[in-house]
Amino acid sequence: MTAMMTAGPVVGTGEAVLRTRNLTKQYGKRLAVNNLNLEVYRGDIFGFLGPNGAGKTTTIRMVLGLIAPTSGSVEVLGRDIATHGQEVLPRVGALVETPALYLYMTGRDNLRALSQSLGSLSEQRIDQVLEMVGLAARQKDRVRTYSLGMKQRLGVAMALMNDPDVLVLDEPANGLDPAGIVEMRELLRALAAQGKTIFISSHVLAEVQQLCTRVGIINLGQLVTEARPQDLTQGTGQYVVFVENAPQALALIRQQPWGVSARMEPNGAILTPAPENRGRNLNKFLVDAGFVPDSIMYQSENLEQAFLRLTQAGGAQ
Ligand SMILES: Nc1ncnc2c1ncn2[C@@H]1O[C@H](COP(=O)(O)OP(=O)(O)OP(=O)(O)O)[C@@H](O)[C@H]1O
Ligand SMILES: [Mg+2]
Repeated sequence: MTAMMTAGPVVGTGEAVLRTRNLTKQYGKRLAVNNLNLEVYRGDIFGFLGPNGAGKTTTIRMVLGLIAPTSGSVEVLGRDIATHGQEVLPRVGALVETPALYLYMTGRDNLRALSQSLGSLSEQRIDQVLEMVGLAARQKDRVRTYSLGMKQRLGVAMALMNDPDVLVLDEPANGLDPAGIVEMRELLRALAAQGKTIFISSHVLAEVQQLCTRVGIINLGQLVTEARPQDLTQGTGQYVVFVENAPQALALIRQQPWGVSARMEPNGAILTPAPENRGRNLNKFLVDAGFVPDSIMYQSENLEQAFLRLTQAGGAQ
């Protein structure tokens, strides 16, 4: 065994591999991206979330140097891409929206064409990436005959050809069936475990919750929050209460300062916060008021609920 040196700039632990500073893009009067500051660390699987039109793709295009920011900057591997793009951008593999594919060519030939344009054709690397994305069996078919999910996988294969340090994927789960989503998740996890840093935009929140180590939520071009998924959903759950005379119990709860947001579900369950966020306090309050609960259950918020809470509050254009 020979000792191997890892190539490229050394990035210390906790060092940002991808960073935007006051990144801004204006189209006419519309601020598509507004003063965005993001930090993505080595080994992160960073989920970039936001409603349609929030500015995700515009941000990704700027990160990849495909469009110039109106103001602000992007650093990849510690270098400003405006001045050192030629040095660092080849270390980034990307898939933006739908991949640009030659439909009349086979999947394999698309990878060959890309490989040649990158400067060296490696049939072995093509075999590897086809295997990684689960397209080996269909590599000799024309892309025209591929399903949406297969095209998406081929796009990911193209992003992987160069064995990049950083992968930037705009909605990689787009068009994938449930089994494909699981495979994509496993592939991205395996790549992160190899030390690659992954930045993905997504609308599939259950997927992001399972996959991502950190998420950034963007709305109307601005960062709403950047956190670990578990931090977004922690302490924001509600209690599900079944009780006789639920409408009266609900009316009483809503008169309390902690219970203003309580509401009733169609199945008659009361969904409510608790005094000091403690179930036992809610239980005592109800019992003291003469409403002995049949059951009280804590239901934590999922990422989808957190996302809607964070992007709908004051989100009107
Ligand atoms: N080339 C362009 N010219 C003018 N406006 C643009 C252009 N590209 C994007 N926009 C606008 O910028 C805003 C952000 O668009 P962007 O594509 O970044 O959103 P997104 O978050 O990727 O949305 P989606 O989830 O639908 O993919 C939108 O209001 C969009 O209309
Ligand atoms: Mg987009």
